[in-house]
Amino acid sequence: MFSAVTSLRERLQGALGDAYRIERELAGGGMSRLFLAEEASLHRQVVIKVLPPEFTSDVSAARFEQEIRVAAHLQHPNILPVLAAGARDDLLYYIMPYVAGESLRHRLTREGRLTVADAVRIVHEVADALAYAHAEGVIHRDIKPENILSRKTTRSSPTSGSPGARGGA
Ligand SMILES: Nc1ncnc2c1ncn2[C@@H]1O[C@H](COP(=O)(O)OP(=O)(O)OP(=O)(O)O)[C@@H](O)[C@H]1O
Ligand SMILES: [Mg+2]
Repeated sequence: MFSAVTSLRERLQGALGDAYRIERELAGGGMSRLFLAEEASLHRQVVIKVLPPEFTSDVSAARFEQEIRVAAHLQHPNILPVLAAGARDDLLYYIMPYVAGESLRHRLTREGRLTVADAVRIVHEVADALAYAHAEGVIHRDIKPENILSRKTTRSSPTSGSPGARGGA
């Protein structure tokens, strides 16, 4: 068993076993924490989003599980898919592809101002993803630059938010 001082990273690594090797924690999670890891069998990087036990009240666990279920059923090129999910050793987590790039917030901080062409392209890509989600009965409810990721070269994708059924905001 794990002692109270065992870090979340160690606990998560214990829960994942040999299938994933955690490399480092990513900055920027709110209630959840995010870790970059290597998926051993496929030699690819993935991101593991975990709800730490201190936040696992009934309400937040239910919300996180809903986030996983909703995200798992969306299929769109600008929405990150869920690769796997699990609940072990008091930890709720799900695994998604790693986006090698940056959040829109990070880019805005770095560049200050985007060109009109870039801004229009990003809005278009995000709106496309949201329109698809709405058609599936899902409302993101937390669209903001922190939750929009871009690969170094191509598209923009909203990260999972606090989705709810249509009309549930
Ligand atoms: N798949 C990913 N690849 C690369 N970076 C990611 C990925 N998912 C999240 N991140 C980074 O982690 C940050 C936080 O992720 P996310 O927005 O999913 O967590 P959160 O803010 O805790 O949750 P929420 O936005 O649902 O309240 C993002 O702003 C981004 O910088
Ligand atoms: Mg976020």
